[in-house]
Amino acid sequence: MATTQKLPAPPLTESIAFSVNGREVQVAAQGHRRLSRVLRDDLGLTGTKVGCDAGDCGACTVLLNGDPICSCLTAVGQVAGCEITTVEGLATRSPLYDRLQNSFLVQGAAQCGACTPGMLVAATALLEHDSSPNENQVMDAIGGVLCRCTGYRKIICAVIDAANGPLQVPSFPKAGSAVGARLVRLDGQKKVAGTEIFGADECPAGALGLRVIRCPHHRARFKFGDLDEFIATHDSVDLVLTAKDVPGVDCYGVIPRFADQPVFAHREARFRGEAVAAVVGEAEKIEALDFLDFPVSWEALPPLETIDQALAPDAPRIHPQREDNVLVRGRVVCGDVDEALIQADVSVEGEYETGFVEHAYIEPEAGFARRVGDTLEVQACTQSPYMDRHDIAKILGIAPEQVRIIPTAVGGGFGSKLDLSVQPFVALAAWKLDRPVRMVYSRTESIVSTTKRHPARMRLRAGATREGKLTALDFSADFNTGAYSSWGPTVAGRVPVHASGPYSVPNYRALTRAVHTNIVPAGAFRGFGVPQAAIAQEQLYDDLADRVGIDRLEFRILNALDNHTPTVTGQVLGEGVGIRACLEALRPHWMRACREVAEFNSQQPRPLKRGVGVAGMWYGCGNTSLPNPSTVRIGLKPDGRVALHQGAVDIGQGSNTIVTQICADALGAPIAQFDLVSGDTSITPDCGKTSASRQTFVTGKAALMAGSKLRGDILKLAGACSCARIEFSAGNVTVFDDGKSKSLALRELPLDAHGYVITCEATFDPPITPLDENGQGTPYAVFGFGAHMSEVEVDVELGTVRVLKVTAAHDVGRAINPTLIEGQIEGGVAQGLGMALMEEFFPGKGENLHDYLIPSAGDVPPIESILIEEPSSIGPFGAKGIGEQAVIPTAPAILNAIHDAIGVRIHRVPATPDRVRAAILAKARGGPHG
Ligand code: FES
Ligand code: FES
Repeated sequence: MATTQKLPAPPLTESIAFSVNGREVQVAAQGHRRLSRVLRDDLGLTGTKVGCDAGDCGACTVLLNGDPICSCLTAVGQVAGCEITTVEGLATRSPLYDRLQNSFLVQGAAQCGACTPGMLVAATALLEHDSSPNENQVMDAIGGVLCRCTGYRKIICAVIDAANGPLQVPSFPKAGSAVGARLVRLDGQKKVAGTEIFGADECPAGALGLRVIRCPHHRARFKFGDLDEFIATHDSVDLVLTAKDVPGVDCYGVIPRFADQPVFAHREARFRGEAVAAVVGEAEKIEALDFLDFPVSWEALPPLETIDQALAPDAPRIHPQREDNVLVRGRVVCGDVDEALIQADVSVEGEYETGFVEHAYIEPEAGFARRVGDTLEVQACTQSPYMDRHDIAKILGIAPEQVRIIPTAVGGGFGSKLDLSVQPFVALAAWKLDRPVRMVYSRTESIVSTTKRHPARMRLRAGATREGKLTALDFSADFNTGAYSSWGPTVAGRVPVHASGPYSVPNYRALTRAVHTNIVPAGAFRGFGVPQAAIAQEQLYDDLADRVGIDRLEFRILNALDNHTPTVTGQVLGEGVGIRACLEALRPHWMRACREVAEFNSQQPRPLKRGVGVAGMWYGCGNTSLPNPSTVRIGLKPDGRVALHQGAVDIGQGSNTIVTQICADALGAPIAQFDLVSGDTSITPDCGKTSASRQTFVTGKAALMAGSKLRGDILKLAGACSCARIEFSAGNVTVFDDGKSKSLALRELPLDAHGYVITCEATFDPPITPLDENGQGTPYAVFGFGAHMSEVEVDVELGTVRVLKVTAAHDVGRAINPTLIEGQIEGGVAQGLGMALMEEFFPGKGENLHDYLIPSAGDVPPIESILIEEPSSIGPFGAKGIGEQAVIPTAPAILNAIHDAIGVRIHRVPATPDRVRAAILAKARGGPHG
């Protein structure tokens, strides 16, 4: 039975005066209200971001009387009479800000931009006190601001550059030379000005707030009490939604064939954090409720938390239709692996485990929905607008055309924002109430309810000849896929194709299972399981090289795939296989590092030991053996400008810029001529999801085709040949051909249905084939390749590991924008370092950024990027993807370096000090290692 919630009498509102960005303000607020909320909600200064509300992320950093503070931990009453400067006020406060903005743009120091305001505030405070800081001082100054995208190195360089003097942002390259240029990102200015709009930065007038009631147990049956009475006794509550309020199909998921997740659980919740109901009402009052009186009763049930528990013969089924709790199996087999292992001159085996990894983007999920006539609009952070549209329409029981998805800027995604988060809740409420409804996840809510990297348990055996040629690999892996399917099928399908690594393995068997448990769903996270597989396969190959007695880098070069060697799926790429070039590019660095390590370790005994490790990677760009088309539309406007409708959501990786660079050169127009039209589903065709390293390759190719078509149409209109030059000016295009010129007055030409003089559209879908029952076929049209070398120092007494340097060679086919590619590599290295040494999410524990540690500025070492260009004729100008590739080899390279330093294998990552120390002690006792 519900009871009326007794709220304590609200503290008195007071009038608090302080100065913000040089302007005196007076706010009526309770003195304990967070300064961050007052700045954002009351004063509209949304440049100050909120990533945690707990002092952990630093996104909310502002200056209080010139010193940086976390505004989320500062009560507005404390700043009475003080001077506050937010990112919006830096320009008037300090001439240094202009320099910082420019150097952030030139260095590519802002990717998604969610941390950028906090970084700029912290950096301004530093430069105001110290005009020429060194690297350590910069790291200290920005140490309280977390960045999940950049790996910090470009931020540090940008601050030092700004200290050294003013820097000009280079002007755009001339027509025809955009590809390959270090162009500053086209959406960069908004990021360094703090004016970028993220999911939580807009709130329509009169919007209601929404809070979700979530299951506090890993598994529980539940019953509601009198919901009507709950509404009746809370005047701030307009509506309570439960499963019975879903008018359409209450089942969604990113892969339609496996869709299995309800918006609200029905009678039994399958994981801690699963939604069972939503409360909608006046935003501030709803936020103040503690829901202790919400009428729901729980009966906790024994959960299946581990792979072993889920696979036990007597385990209950989490989904009745899925036998043995196995969601899906993956399989790739070639040759005769059993016989080859018997015949191998040397063989090694190993078992490796990885844990859950949290995406930890700085921007928690947020957005709002509103009904506009018969249409529902959802404005939220997302990596996949068209997939969202499909599922929201299905949930509401309306046509997809009645749903409009307007993606905001995305403050980091890395795969998790491919899945729905706030969207179904705000959509249902707005549709039902015909009022705008907004929701912003707290950090805890984000961590408990959104997807994670799959934990993996992997077993392997590999064999080789005594000369070191790989002859066989037998790989099997189970992945904890959690309560719902999400991207589990993709992980189970992609890993068997990649678990050989980028090497020729004639006899191969890779079998995988995605296993359901009562844990938050595991989904997409940069690499779709391949980083986990690389941790196992690359450590095992080191063991094999050691057994054969071959240098570990040379072992990889000896076995590297070439253009004409078949992969484990029987695919012969024929071109663009750049792994050998990547590994060979590391050779001089490897020889230098090996020398230095030997010299360091040969000095008198001490607790510090150094080591060097290497690991290779490959990664198929796009979906595995499935269609994944992108469509790009381009329109020539009457004023001579070019509208580029590209729906690839830029989550910080730079697709807005890269796709435009490609299109510009295909058309032969300067970059400055383009107007970007973003991925709003009502005005932009479908460019698919931003994942699987597909946007440069797939959307980039569609942009190249659309640009070439428009060029062709213009030339046809002018009666010119294909080699003619086109010049764009206000209201005109002029075509120069064979010494003659012809001008087209665009305003005199009729407009088409899109409102353009000429519209061209192109679709590209990579050529792939389905895989047969043994996983043989052409799963991807293009692969990216890479290899990382890591130098580490291990304290054998403490078990701590410090990474001293990472050298990263990547074959990107064609470096469309080297600065942005380096940014992807450095960010990937930082995430790989986190995975290797510190990051593990324990369900039900540490659901915040205080206990869940990600690398901060001081953790990331210098990173040297080496760009290799082995072009693929299928990719635009030869380009391949880089987003996922960059993270894959870092962790195994670090783990191999630890082994090189202290002679122990770490079989379970992350290699935290306790695990490293335990492995050292186990080795000393002669037992198995970590
Ligand atoms: S929002 Fe203030 S530190 Fe994270
Ligand atoms: S750019 Fe720093 S969090 Fe994205």
